[in-house]
Amino acid sequence: MSAVEGGNVLPATALRGKDLLGVSELTPEEISLVLDTAEAMKEIGSRPIKKVPALRGKTVVNLFFEPSTRTRTSFEIAEKRLSADTLSIAAGTSSVVKGETLVDTVRTLEAMQPDMIVVRHASSGAAHLLSRTCRSAVINAGDGTHEHPTQALLDAFTIREHKARLSNLKVAIIGDLLHSRVLRSNVLLLTKMGARVWACGPPTLVPVDLPGLGVQVTHHVEEAVRDADVVMLLRIQLERMEGAFFPSLREYFRLFGMTSARLALARPDVLVMHPGPMNRGVEIASDVADGPNSVILEQVANGVAVRMAVLYLLAGGAEHEAVV
Ligand code: CP
Repeated sequence: MSAVEGGNVLPATALRGKDLLGVSELTPEEISLVLDTAEAMKEIGSRPIKKVPALRGKTVVNLFFEPSTRTRTSFEIAEKRLSADTLSIAAGTSSVVKGETLVDTVRTLEAMQPDMIVVRHASSGAAHLLSRTCRSAVINAGDGTHEHPTQALLDAFTIREHKARLSNLKVAIIGDLLHSRVLRSNVLLLTKMGARVWACGPPTLVPVDLPGLGVQVTHHVEEAVRDADVVMLLRIQLERMEGAFFPSLREYFRLFGMTSARLALARPDVLVMHPGPMNRGVEIASDVADGPNSVILEQVANGVAVRMAVLYLLAGGAEHEAVV
């Protein structure tokens, strides 16, 4: 186990790659390493002084070309807790609005010698493009409809905290499957770790390659939810939709929305999850979102610990820095 326990770093292995671009490139052992390391990082967040010097002297740039509340703020908090020097740039306040390209923007930032760049972009593959042109470590904070690896890692961490395992759990993922990078990263991670993944949504919102990823696809929400250990709702991403994928939001909620009556088909200790932001009354009823099975705010809290773990391991983990 990689750990920061009692103020000392125990032997750890860093991630193999320079970057974290997607779950697709992580082995099950690396996923477990991140989750184990995040357990130790979570303990730091419960101390009176929530700061360790692990990334002292490192500079991290957060470059967000799309809106974000959870991911951007939790990366910033994670970086500060590890004592990194941080800088956050929103596209709207950068020279991107004057027409500068993504690559030129990042080359300009790299001239100032950052160690890591956290990037969110509307184009699938943006993080991979930067990885090829950057000396810095690149962390994908969401690229188009492709991947959102740290979201899947924090989701897995939250599930494992409650269920003590990922293998052989039934996880039902319901919502806008077509436009969701959270779906893809979660499917890749959960199937690698031995979970049974069901995906449910209207036929118009199911990616054609989904069954090939080892997922059971259904258009009947009751079938997806029945005996599930975890029910994960995905946001209807109206901003990515051109044209009508279903008749109306009211119709979507009637056919696919998570109500307490539907949730009663799942196991009594089912976890209700949502990566956020939620559309209450569309993919999830308010009493389910705020109900006793909901771990939605735990997901947010765990995002800090998991992102601390990713930053720490990409920086070399215990090989490079002592944590006091
Ligand atoms: N889950 C997620 O990525 O949320 P934000 O868009 O608020 O970062």
